[in-house]
Amino acid sequence: MSFPLLCQIGIRRISQRARDEKTRKLLSRIIRVDQAGELGADRIYAGQIAVLGKTSVGPIIQEMKEQEQEHLETFNHLIVEKRVRPTALLPLWNVAGFVLGAGTAMLGKEGAMACTVAVESVIGEHYNSQIRDLMEDDPEKHKDLIQKLSKFRDDELHHHDTGLEHDAEKAPMYEALSQVIKVGCYGAIWLSERI
Ligand SMILES: [Fe+2]
Ligand SMILES: [Fe+2]
Repeated sequence: MSFPLLCQIGIRRISQRARDEKTRKLLSRIIRVDQAGELGADRIYAGQIAVLGKTSVGPIIQEMKEQEQEHLETFNHLIVEKRVRPTALLPLWNVAGFVLGAGTAMLGKEGAMACTVAVESVIGEHYNSQIRDLMEDDPEKHKDLIQKLSKFRDDELHHHDTGLEHDAEKAPMYEALSQVIKVGCYGAIWLSERI
């Protein structure tokens, strides 16, 4: 084998390895943060149910919670299957999610729904940006995950719309509450991708 050919093969192998490493990092980041997010979502709805479970919106919140559990189970499986390290912040999101859910529910059903609208709009956007990253990396290789994320994104946007239908915008200080929760979600995403 000639020297230039050997060099070519070597370069190809190195760049393939670099691509594989980039894909591995992308998948780890996505699975880690989504597991954390879905745990947070499940806890938010648990907090809301603790306060509003016996009111007219109880069953609606319960239905959304069950979908979050489905999402969470998917990432719990993926984290094992793809051998991804979970974020060290899971215990924090466990508590913070519940406090956020219960705290906003104490403002009434409108407060709980305002929380849902804010959180789900961030999560919907977040899933869309992950779907774009996976398409850019390799749509064929990530076909299954893209399908899952698209389904979850649709569920989250449905939760968002449910919140609006149930008077989210009538919550006390709706705009301010919504902004604070959104900033909190962006912060939680940023941290969970890194820690
Ligand atoms: Fe979810
Ligand atoms: Fe959701």
